[in-house]
Amino acid sequence: MRRTAFLRRSAGAMIAAALPVASRASPSELVRYDLTARRLRFAPSPGVSFAGLAFSGSVPGPFLRVTRGQRVCVHYRNRCGEPTAVHWHGMILPNAMDGVSGITQPPVPDGGSFVYEFTPGPAGTRWYHDHEYNMASMRGLFGMFVVEDPLDEPADAEFALVFHDVPSPRTIAAAMDGTSDAPMVDPIGSPEMRGMRAGDRMGDEIGYAAHCINGASYPKTAPLAVNVGARVRLRILNANLTETRYVRLAGHRLRVTHADGNPLEQPLEVDALRIGVGERYDAWFEVRKPGAWLLQGLSSDPLGFEQAAVVHTPGMATLSPLAAPQSLEGVEAFSYEKAGGVAGRFVLPYAGIVKHFLLEGGAYGSRAWTINGKSWPATEKIVVARGDRVLVRFTNKTDMDHPMHLHGHTFEIIEVDGRALARPLAKDVSLVRANGGTLTWRFAATSPAGRWLLHCHNDVHMMGGMMTEVVYR
Ligand code: C2O
Ligand code: CU
Repeated sequence: MRRTAFLRRSAGAMIAAALPVASRASPSELVRYDLTARRLRFAPSPGVSFAGLAFSGSVPGPFLRVTRGQRVCVHYRNRCGEPTAVHWHGMILPNAMDGVSGITQPPVPDGGSFVYEFTPGPAGTRWYHDHEYNMASMRGLFGMFVVEDPLDEPADAEFALVFHDVPSPRTIAAAMDGTSDAPMVDPIGSPEMRGMRAGDRMGDEIGYAAHCINGASYPKTAPLAVNVGARVRLRILNANLTETRYVRLAGHRLRVTHADGNPLEQPLEVDALRIGVGERYDAWFEVRKPGAWLLQGLSSDPLGFEQAAVVHTPGMATLSPLAAPQSLEGVEAFSYEKAGGVAGRFVLPYAGIVKHFLLEGGAYGSRAWTINGKSWPATEKIVVARGDRVLVRFTNKTDMDHPMHLHGHTFEIIEVDGRALARPLAKDVSLVRANGGTLTWRFAATSPAGRWLLHCHNDVHMMGGMMTEVVYR
C-alpha cells in the first residue's frame, strides 16, 4: 500500500497505543489527512458516558505522524454543530495555519471546511487541539502529532500515551459561571501537596468523572505489550484541562530524553514525570525481566487509580496488578532544575526586549485571571521586529501553578525560582510555580510574521483572561 493511502486510512481509525516503529518515507512526499469534528458520545469507563466533540470519531483524535521534512495537507471538516478550528501545538508554521479562531483565521462554521497545509516541525512529540475561547476544548477535540526525527536513537517499541480526564457535566457548568464545586485534586504526597497551605488550590476548578489514557480508564485501557530486553519509548502528553499529572511506571526508572518534543542536552533519569497541562515528555525504560507493571497518572482524586495501564511481557497479561494509586512519597520526580542543572543565582542577561509579567487572579473565587493586572484582550502585548531577542520573566502571585505556553516559537527556560539553568531547556509550555515562583523564557523573534498567542494552558485561566500575544510588526 502506498504510504499516502495508508495514512489517509489510518487517520480515520482509533488511536493505537502501539506505534509502528520508524516509518521511513521520502521527505518529498505530501502526507494527506482528513479530520472531521463531530459530536460523539463515548464511554471511557463503565457507568460514565460522555457527550462531547471528537475528531474523526475518537477521543483522543487520530494519531498523526510524519517524518521531519514531509509536508502535510489536512482537510478539516467541521460537522460538530459549532464553530471550531484546529491549532497545531508546538509547531512553527505560517501564522495563517496556526488555527486560532478569531485571531489567525475566521472560525470554520458548522458544515464548513478548511485546508491546513504546512511542513510540521520542529521534530518531536507535538499535538493538536481546537482553540476556541470557550469551553469547547473540554469536550474531546485533541490528538497527538509526532514529527519523527530519523536521527533519533531507535526504540524496540514505542507507545503514544495521551493522558486526559473527562470533566463532569456539572463542573463544566460550574466552571462556566465561576462557581467551582470541585474537590481538591492533587498528587498524593507530591512536593506541592506537602508545601500547600490551607486554602491553597491546584487546578481544582473542575471535577472529573473519569481519568483516561488514550480515551479509556483502567481496566479498559489498552495494555502495553513489551518483550524482555526491549528498550521502550513512551511519548506522553498531558491533555488535561487544568491539572498537573505525575506519571510513574512501577518497578522502573524513566529516562527522559525530550521535553515538549525537544531533545534534552543531557537525558535525565527519574522515578516519575511531572507533566503540566499541554506538556509532553519522551521517557524510556528497559524491560529487564518478565512481569506486569502498572503505569499510572497520579492524583489524590478518589478515581485517580483509573488513569492506569498495564505494561506486560508475553504471557503475563493476565497478571494485572491491583489498581490502587502508587505513592509519590520519597519518589524522585522530574523537574526543570534537575533536567537543566542549576548554575547559581540568576542574573537577568541583556536582551532587546524584556518583559516582566505578573500572574494574578482567582482570588476569592474570582473568574478573572490577569497578566500585569489586565485580562485578555486588554493585556499588554509583546511587539517584536524580526530578529529581536526577547526575555519574558513570569512571577506567579497566585496559589496555583500556571502552565504558560507560547505559539509558533520554541523558547528556552533559563531561570527557575531565581536560579539560572546551566543547560537551558527548549520547550513550548512551562509551569510557573505557585506562591511567588518565577521563571524566565528566552526566545528569538525568527518565526513567520503574525500574531502568536501566549497564554496559560489551564483552560479555565485562559478563558479567565490569562492570555496575551507576541505580535510581529
Ligand atoms: Cu495548546 Cu494556545 O495552545
Ligand atoms: Cu494558569
